[in-house]
Amino acid sequence: MQTNAFFLGKGGVGKTTLSAAFALKLARSGKRVLVASLDPAHNLGDVLGLSLGDAAQKVEPNLDALEVNLGAWVERYLAESREELLATYSYNLTLNLDSFFDIMKYSPGTEEYAVLWAIEHIRCELSGDYDFVVFDTPPTALTLRFLAMPAISSRWVAELTRLRERILERRQTVTRINPGSPVASSCIDKADDAVYGKLGSIKRRLADLASLFGRESYVAVVVNQDILSVAEAKRIASELTHIEVPFSALCVNKRGLSDTPWSLDAELAHIPSFSFDFRPEGLCAREDLALIDTSALVEDFLDKAAKKGQS
Ligand SMILES: Nc1ncnc2c1ncn2[C@@H]1O[C@H](COP(=O)(O)OP(=O)(O)OP(=O)(O)O)[C@@H](O)[C@H]1O
Ligand SMILES: [Mg+2]
Repeated sequence: MQTNAFFLGKGGVGKTTLSAAFALKLARSGKRVLVASLDPAHNLGDVLGLSLGDAAQKVEPNLDALEVNLGAWVERYLAESREELLATYSYNLTLNLDSFFDIMKYSPGTEEYAVLWAIEHIRCELSGDYDFVVFDTPPTALTLRFLAMPAISSRWVAELTRLRERILERRQTVTRINPGSPVASSCIDKADDAVYGKLGSIKRRLADLASLFGRESYVAVVVNQDILSVAEAKRIASELTHIEVPFSALCVNKRGLSDTPWSLDAELAHIPSFSFDFRPEGLCAREDLALIDTSALVEDFLDKAAKKGQS
């Protein structure tokens, strides 16, 4: 079942505005909706006229919102990893965990994992209360990296699993030949091996997230009528194809802002496209979001969600 919507696009095109307007429209049509911001520089609360935090908060009937605290998720991810390392390598006193984690906090991939676990938390702990979850996303580079993470990490985990299997096989061989060897007292069986078990659980978590992005999500890419945001949408299109995540809709926002003649790039012409007028009076209050006509986009989303539900 397709139960999530993601709004991607270049900075400033209107991702937060459209995700909030879309969520509001869905909620007012009777669906129970959670809108969640994954952007470290949040402004979903500003758009909805509320101060939001990490916990879901009521906006109006059928609509809740939250702003994921990525810093807290990074800390949680590091704390979990630290506990696991300590448990696994408790015998190795030479490993300086403090300096290891100081580096890891700022290492490539840490923020992406934090986003993944935040999404997993929403999926496992919160989404049961809603029909749909709408995600406002961070800048394109981070978004594409976290969307790609399950596929990339799965390959790593598969390699590590094979390596662990080989280690266990060697231990079994040594134990058979020499039952008195120190190796015989270590774990030799997959079923009892904590490391093997942990790899299996990471594999399942990643597969769930890959399914969430690839099969259970509607991905809308927002552009304005300008060259740069369209160029970014084309890059997003090619990345999404590569990681097998759908490009469900193109949202042309702020239509009419400029008089310059504009036509949609032929490369994006096959994607269902929806336009949203620029509102010169600005968007100052939540009710202004309702003036952005998202009905065709919502209809397309519900239509695709229903079809996925049947398949
Ligand atoms: N249809 C519209 N009419 C008028 N103003 C709009 C419209 N859509 C967005 N805006 C304005 O454009 C600005 C950027 O919008 P928004 O914050 O939603 O973009 P964003 O893509 O989320 O930006 P960021 O990448 O910084 O998160 C805001 O001031 C917003 O009010
Ligand atoms: Mg935004």
